[in-house]
Amino acid sequence: MRVFVTGATGFVGREVVRHLQQAGHDVFALCRNPEDLYVTGVQKVQGDILQPHTFEAQLREAEACVHCIGILRAFPEKGVTFEKMHYQATLNLVRACGKVGVQRYIHISANGVEKHPTTEYMRSKAKSEQAVRSSSLDWTILRPSVVYGGNPNKENFVKILRDNLSKTSLFPYFGKGEYCMAPISTWELSETVRRCLETPESVGKTYHLGGEEVYTYKALLHLICEAGNYKTKLFSLPPVLMSTAAGLLGGFKWFPMTTDMLRMLMQGNDVPANAPTQKLLEVPSVSFRGWLHHGLMEPAGAAALSEKSEGSTVNTTRPLSPDDAPDP
Ligand SMILES: NC(=O)c1ccc[n+]([C@@H]2O[C@H](COP(=O)([O-])OP(=O)(O)OC[C@H]3O[C@@H](n4cnc5c(N)ncnc54)[C@H](OP(=O)(O)O)[C@@H]3O)[C@@H](O)[C@H]2O)c1
Repeated sequence: MRVFVTGATGFVGREVVRHLQQAGHDVFALCRNPEDLYVTGVQKVQGDILQPHTFEAQLREAEACVHCIGILRAFPEKGVTFEKMHYQATLNLVRACGKVGVQRYIHISANGVEKHPTTEYMRSKAKSEQAVRSSSLDWTILRPSVVYGGNPNKENFVKILRDNLSKTSLFPYFGKGEYCMAPISTWELSETVRRCLETPESVGKTYHLGGEEVYTYKALLHLICEAGNYKTKLFSLPPVLMSTAAGLLGGFKWFPMTTDMLRMLMQGNDVPANAPTQKLLEVPSVSFRGWLHHGLMEPAGAAALSEKSEGSTVNTTRPLSPDDAPDP
């Protein structure tokens, strides 16, 4: 199938691009800077989601579209807002798909949207989902919990924790640290996308993507320390202190967290009981604990599997199995 993927240089999008390409799909990868995408064998489309005329011609060539653009932090002074990067971007793409006749559309949203959104991130995600649902496209919505895996050089939640825990002797969790999360690998996410494209029954459905292993935040920190053999001491920081600091400093990129990020973290990120998940599509599971030891903690090994260190070549013969982890 010819598939147009947005956010192709991102943490998630890049793995989706690579996975679909390896599965034999023809991929059109939307990037602002094509030189940032180290995947070969795909058609790179230079364009901006906020300017549909920059990509409509290539979108027309596709049979399906996967939308992987999103932000975790807004920087309004730079014009980067949730309204623009989530809602407006989705609206642009949905409309462009309708205009050029791409009927099949897969939308990467986020776990937690269904709870009454209390943050700008979730509110804009909910609004984007609504734009998708009210379109006449054959849509599927995927709501991942926290995603791990992929390129060891790309910023993501688990990598940031690992980097910090490895450098410091004291590291905080907030309150009791008992909020849960169900980390899902980039491999499982990308495989879910692939199966959706190949499964007509997934049209009109919303799936929550969460790994089988569920951890509290505190347990996750312990697990990373254990895997990396870090002697870092974990301590409880009153949420009000972090919230005050985030309120004052969260506008600066160097500060690790905004108040919304803290709120989302403490709301938990495990998949609601009885929610439809990737299991309905029979996506095999990847062990987060196993990956921590073999992937994140052995970056040289993981890097060896990434295109960047393969000299910009993709091994297209790799099997599509969770055994592909850590760099699925
Ligand atoms: N990572 C997670 O743990 C996680 C969890 C749940 C849901 N999600 C969702 O998954 C999606 C992808 O997240 P991610 O972690 O992959 O984010 P990411 O690494 O920050 O990637 C974002 C992508 O969007 C692109 N982009 C930004 N502005 C653009 C524009 N104006 N035009 C075209 N492309 C633009 C970026 O391109 P540049 O390289 O040019 O900046 C990049 O490729 C988001 O919707 C996110 O909410 C992620």
